[in-house]
Amino acid sequence: MKLAKRVTVIEPSATLALMAKAKALKNEGKKVLEFQVGEPDFDTPDHVKQEGIKAIEENFTHYTPNAGTLEIKKAVIEKLKRDNNLTYELNEVMVSNGGKHCLFNATMALVDTGDEVIIPAPYWVTYPECVKIADGVPVFIETTSENDFKITPEQLEKAITDKTKVLILCSPSNPTGSVYTKEELEALAEVVVKHQIIVFADEMYEKLVYDDLEFVSFASLGEEVKKLTLTFNGVSKAYAMTGWRIGYVAGDKEIIKAMDSLQSHATSCPNSIAQKASVAALLGSQEPLEEMRKEFDERRKLMVGALNDIPGISCRIPKGAFYAFPDISGFIGKTYKGEKINSDSDFARLLLENYYVVAVPGSSFGAPGFLRFSYATSREIIQEGMELLKKFVSEIE
Ligand SMILES: Cc1ncc(COP(=O)(O)O)c(C=O)c1O
Repeated sequence: MKLAKRVTVIEPSATLALMAKAKALKNEGKKVLEFQVGEPDFDTPDHVKQEGIKAIEENFTHYTPNAGTLEIKKAVIEKLKRDNNLTYELNEVMVSNGGKHCLFNATMALVDTGDEVIIPAPYWVTYPECVKIADGVPVFIETTSENDFKITPEQLEKAITDKTKVLILCSPSNPTGSVYTKEELEALAEVVVKHQIIVFADEMYEKLVYDDLEFVSFASLGEEVKKLTLTFNGVSKAYAMTGWRIGYVAGDKEIIKAMDSLQSHATSCPNSIAQKASVAALLGSQEPLEEMRKEFDERRKLMVGALNDIPGISCRIPKGAFYAFPDISGFIGKTYKGEKINSDSDFARLLLENYYVVAVPGSSFGAPGFLRFSYATSREIIQEGMELLKKFVSEIE
């Protein structure tokens, strides 16, 4: 069987083998502590669920317009105005089956063979693969923990060529939890405007920022910036609605029209019931969201404190999302029970095999020498997991 080239260029997720191993251990009855999770462990708020139930009972169970109902588009417009001070028209927003689907549509609509897409590393695993599917070329900008994993305008300037089409900016970031300040974004925006490149501003974790940090939407930096920006967001992370699959994007109407056309042939519309529930999430009480954020904040402090208590591990304080991204590079080249640890993947595998603790190797995100621990899990599990990690590390020679 000869598969299409576009699927052969996609790298299988490096974490798949790890997940399979974790699953096998669970099936054996082992207590596996899972820190690989990329979704809130809270329930979808009740008033949101009720809207979903109502939608079914009222037979709102048919196709909707491709780019989403008028009602949800209006809700997205209202949300962007309310939270981000952004003004969009109906033909400048679109709703898809999750933020990932929005990103996929946008990449397909904009990236041609050989077009370069700048991706700061560490990155969310989907970005480079999505670009490769479109036959584009991912161009990485390396960042360091000393710089809080953020790119500088100088780095951006250097990475831009005459083939550059898009810059992907993820703030708050998965996997690092970094959040760009307004000043940092402004400095990047200057470069973006000068070179007229398009920015995919992935703001999926917007609602999860800590320490009174102000979240700033990239498109809000001015009319010129807004014209060049596609803002991606969704209900998954903010409202614990990962399974409902609703994401949205706002930006230039010509791009939105192309994305709408693509979507119409790929998936038709987003799920009708989920659209109804998402309107309730976007426009209803935002209180549950603040409760979740506060709990994430407590867990963040607990986890980062525990990580920094472990000799040989250092973890900067993430300002957003729900991931800690500790540096474990000091253990590479050392030995665990006679086995050499050659990489972060070896570290993660040995930790899983010996203590049933799952973390994702940084190399999956383009950051070898790090691990990603999600704190979208209970405080008890965090405490237990960090103790086991400490024990594991104490046995490394
Ligand atoms: C950075 C980032 N962007 C976008 C998404 C997409 O989320 P969804 O497709 O559930 O809306 C995710 C999910 O993990 C993410 O981590």
